[in-house]
Amino acid sequence: MKKLSVIIPTYNEVNNIEPIVKLLELSLKSINFEIIFVDDNSPDGTINEIKKLSEVNKKVRYILRFDKSGLSSAVTDGILNAESEICVVMDGDLQHDEKIIPMMFKKIVDGKLDLVVGSRFKRKNDSNSLNAKRFFFSKFGNFISNSLLINKLTDPMSGFFMIRRNVFLTIIPRLSQIGFKILLDLIISSEKKLSFQEIEFKFRKRNSGDSKLNYLIFWDYFLMLIDKKFGKLVPVRFISYCLIGLIGVLIHIFSFLILFKVMQLNFFHSYLPAMLITMTSNFFINNALTFRHVQLLKPKDVMRGLFLYYIICSFGAFSNIMIATNIYNSSIFSNLDLNWIVATFSGLLVSSVWNYLVSSRMSWRIKK
Ligand code: GDD
Ligand code: MN
Repeated sequence: MKKLSVIIPTYNEVNNIEPIVKLLELSLKSINFEIIFVDDNSPDGTINEIKKLSEVNKKVRYILRFDKSGLSSAVTDGILNAESEICVVMDGDLQHDEKIIPMMFKKIVDGKLDLVVGSRFKRKNDSNSLNAKRFFFSKFGNFISNSLLINKLTDPMSGFFMIRRNVFLTIIPRLSQIGFKILLDLIISSEKKLSFQEIEFKFRKRNSGDSKLNYLIFWDYFLMLIDKKFGKLVPVRFISYCLIGLIGVLIHIFSFLILFKVMQLNFFHSYLPAMLITMTSNFFINNALTFRHVQLLKPKDVMRGLFLYYIICSFGAFSNIMIATNIYNSSIFSNLDLNWIVATFSGLLVSSVWNYLVSSRMSWRIKK
């Protein structure tokens, strides 16, 4: 039985696989360990490199997933399939210093801890390899999360941590699984307060491949925090969809006014293009944010998705108008001056629920 499972999610890390295995072999000499790569079918052929190594090295295992369903779920799949009671999660790009793993291991075992976190910030001013954008991200993220959390971590966004498998398993049902911040997700989702310690390490520069962290991850992060607060009431993707819908309203008004007031087109000739512009931009924003985990990337899928989206939203708009008019004309609220408000919001609510439910299934092919 292995003592330690090293979980490494990979996406386009073809040149980093061999080096990372070598480095782990060197620093984990005294521990009986296995490595589990979780690859989301990287287009650069990372999996071939992993398979090649796993044939000659019994310690190397892998999980190949078909859909790119994101870092958090890759980590979960890795830990679920781990053989050992203790798991360490690290990046596959050599940015995390494997030399501290034996120390983490000793800490978690001797201290009977739930969690040991590799921190980039424990030693002050040691974040030279973070560029300005990243530095801002991390500091800002830490600020938000620390103000929300009881646990004071110096690096709650870290992707380098060791955890007991049984502790992880008890938290899984409550994880929101959105995006990148699995550690933070774990800490806020855990019912019992996790016992943890931090170990500092020097975050290395990436030599090969690209970071998948970008500004869009902020949206995921924001959604995750909302999910923790309201996720039991409303699905968080629906909230994202509605927020983007609000942006859509602004886009609609703006483009309508340009056509109607500035270009002096008639109402219909202004309204129709404005609606098309809004639907198109909403489609792309939703594709980038709400459905980031299943983003339609191939031109063929994008065209199909967009086409369906137009149709679905037209039904949505139609039902919106019908419901709003009916409520407006009915006498229920007519003695109060609330009629138009109730009518408008009912129309909007029904059409957004319809648009969301149908477009997530049809345009983005989400099954549940
Ligand atoms: N399987 C899978 N699926 N792996 C992924 C995916 C995915 O969708 N996205 C990224 N990865 C892998 C990468 O190949 C890499 O091994 C690791 O996950 C981290 O991705 P990077 O692209 O290297 O992320 P980063 O260095 O920008 O972000 C790191 O720092 C963040 C803190 O700022 C990570 O450690 C994050 O977890 C951490 O939150
Ligand atoms: Mn990285």
